[in-house]
Amino acid sequence: MTSATIDPHVEYKMTTNGLTNGIDIVALKAAARAQVHFELESSLPTPLELTRSLKAYPTSDLTPAIGTTFEKIDIHAILNSPECDAKIRDLAIIIARRGVCVFPNQADLTIEDQKTLCHKLGRLTCRPYSSGLNIHPLNQSTMPDGSVDPALATLTRDPSKKLVKQAGFGFRFAKQKQSGADGWHTDCSYENVPADFTLLHMKTTPVTGGDTLFASAYEMYDLLSTPYAKFLEGLNATFTPPGHTPENIVDRMWKGPRGSPENVGPELCASHTIIRTNPVTGWKALYGTGHHMEGVDGLAQEESDMIKHHLERLITDNHQLQVRVKWAPDTLVVWDNRSCYHTATFDYTDERSANRICGCGEKPYLDVRSSSRRYALGLKK
Ligand SMILES: [Fe+2]
Repeated sequence: MTSATIDPHVEYKMTTNGLTNGIDIVALKAAARAQVHFELESSLPTPLELTRSLKAYPTSDLTPAIGTTFEKIDIHAILNSPECDAKIRDLAIIIARRGVCVFPNQADLTIEDQKTLCHKLGRLTCRPYSSGLNIHPLNQSTMPDGSVDPALATLTRDPSKKLVKQAGFGFRFAKQKQSGADGWHTDCSYENVPADFTLLHMKTTPVTGGDTLFASAYEMYDLLSTPYAKFLEGLNATFTPPGHTPENIVDRMWKGPRGSPENVGPELCASHTIIRTNPVTGWKALYGTGHHMEGVDGLAQEESDMIKHHLERLITDNHQLQVRVKWAPDTLVVWDNRSCYHTATFDYTDERSANRICGCGEKPYLDVRSSSRRYALGLKK
C-alpha cells in the first residue's frame, strides 16, 4: 500500500475493505482530513461584506426569514461581463444570507454556465481549493454524444411511480404515506465534505405542482433556548443515506473522488457538528437534522431519538421559517446547503425535468465566536 494523492483521471476499482488500486483509502482520507483541519485551525474565515455591485438589479424578499427573488437579471450575460467576479461574489453572499435565491427567465443559461457559476460562487467566497464540483455517488448524466458528465445530475422523475408507491393496503392498516417530514435534507450531508451551493435550472414543469420547499437553518438555530443550543454545540451527528450500504452500491457507484479528496470510497457515512458556522456569513445554523441524519454520536439510542425527533419538528412545526418556491421553465434557483434545508413535492403527474449542479464546500465546523443571524442583524429573538 502506498500513500498517494488521488488522480481524478484514474478509474479506481473499489472494494468494500477500503482498498483502491493498492491505495489505502482510509489513510488517504485521514491525511486529507488532517490537512483540512490544519487549514481550519490556522485560518478561520471572517464573514464577507457585500459591495454594491448588484444595486442595479431589483429584488424582492419572499419571506422575512428566507428567500429572495432577483426580478430582472441575466446570469449568462453577467458571466460574460468584465464585472463578473465582483457580481458573482456579491450574489454568493446574498444567497448565503437569504438561504435561497430565485432567478426567473434564465433561458440563455447553459450547463457550462451553471458549472462556471457554481465554481465562482464557491471559489470567490470560502470554498477550499481542495473542493470542486460535487459528483453524486449514483446519479450521473449521459450526454447526447454518449459521454458521461459526472458533475451534472439531470433530475427527471416519473411521478406516477411515487404516487403508486404511496398507495396500497395492508392487512389492517392502509400503507398510505401521510407525512412528508422525512423529505427535508441538505445535499450530500453523508459526505465528509458536503455541499455548499446547489444550482437547479428547471427545463420542464407540470401545469401545477412540483414545488420545492426551503427552511432556514439560521432560524432553526435561533429558535433554540441558550442552554439547549450550548448543549447541541458540543455534539456531532452521523449522516448516511437510509438503505444504502457499501455492499449494495459499490458496483454501480462513481469510481473516484466525488468533488473532494475526502469524498471517496464506497462508505457513504460522515460525522458532522450539529451546529455549524456558515463561513460566508459567520452565522450559526442548525445542521444536525434531515433525511440523512442517523443519530447523535455518543448518546444512548433513546437520547439520540429524542433529539432527532425534536430537531425535525423545528422544521415541520414552524412555517415562518419555510418558503415555497414555484417553478417555471428556465427558472434557476440557487441555495446554500449551510443555510437551509429543502424538500421536493411529489404531487404532479406531468413531466418535470431540471439540471442540477452542486459544489462541495468545506468540512463543517463550528466557530464558537460566530453569532446567530438574529443577533447579527439586531433582530429580536
Ligand atoms: Fe436535494
